[in-house]
Amino acid sequence: MSQSATSDFTGDVVAVTGAAQGIGRSVAEAFGAQGARVAVIDLQLDAAQVVADAITAAGGHAIAVACDVGDHAAVDAAAAEIADRLGPISVLVSNAGITRPAMIRKMTDDEWHQVVNVHLNASFYWLKAVVEGMIARGGGRMIFTTSSTAQNGSIGQVNYAAAKSGVVGLVRTAARELGRYNILVNAVAPAAVTDMTRKVMTDPKFGADPSKTILGRFAEPDELAPTYLYLASPASSLVTGQIVSIDGGGMFVR
Ligand SMILES: NC(=O)c1ccc[n+]([C@@H]2O[C@H](COP(=O)([O-])OP(=O)(O)OC[C@H]3O[C@@H](n4cnc5c(N)ncnc54)[C@H](O)[C@@H]3O)[C@@H](O)[C@H]2O)c1
Repeated sequence: MSQSATSDFTGDVVAVTGAAQGIGRSVAEAFGAQGARVAVIDLQLDAAQVVADAITAAGGHAIAVACDVGDHAAVDAAAAEIADRLGPISVLVSNAGITRPAMIRKMTDDEWHQVVNVHLNASFYWLKAVVEGMIARGGGRMIFTTSSTAQNGSIGQVNYAAAKSGVVGLVRTAARELGRYNILVNAVAPAAVTDMTRKVMTDPKFGADPSKTILGRFAEPDELAPTYLYLASPASSLVTGQIVSIDGGGMFVR
């Protein structure tokens, strides 16, 4: 990780999964604007390419990488492709996600497995894909993605809440095991209006109520990205094993 300034990521290779849209896109663009070489990883290669092109057009350096993060072999192949085209990954942002909502009585095994796979298994696959390289190079940063549902539960989302709880355990354990190698491991619990949440956050039918956050409003993804930069920067050199909520205080007020 670059030591020259808090927000200068020149020399870093930042891999962001689920970066074709939403929060991942904002995070990828923010790192690109700060000098990082960025891998825009997603199932949707065309959309990922649009993001990589936007970063490049803005003067940055980015590539699009196709990967199903729920497939261990595909994750290893993506990490190898990134190392080959950009260099070894110094900052991992594991962000890709899906929802498959259903009440417990109706949820199928397939809906359970898909969500656990894309959130929890994928977090383990990426952890494994980058850890040896980070140890060999003397350190690194990993930022995983959980959700307030890990603490609170969420009606109709037992698969998602359970997977996001699993990510918390993964992060706290990885932080303990990897601190001795100067690898800092944290998670974010974001909240923003994206394709994943637009319906629930903006349709009154779902009872969305921004006033249930301390700040009284929902955010757009761009407002979240600086916290990811912070967690990858020298400014957070003592921050590890933490769950950082970027939700306007939503979880706190509930
Ligand atoms: N938006 C919120 O309020 C909110 C709240 C809590 C947690 N989160 C978490 O933040 C992360 C980003 O969410 P978002 O709101 O930007 O969602 P989004 O739906 O806008 O974007 C998710 C991205 O992940 C990609 N993706 C899905 N499955 C994939 C797979 N198997 N392999 C590779 N890419 C895949 C999608 O193509 C998409 O580009 C997710 O982990 C989500 O669970 C979001």
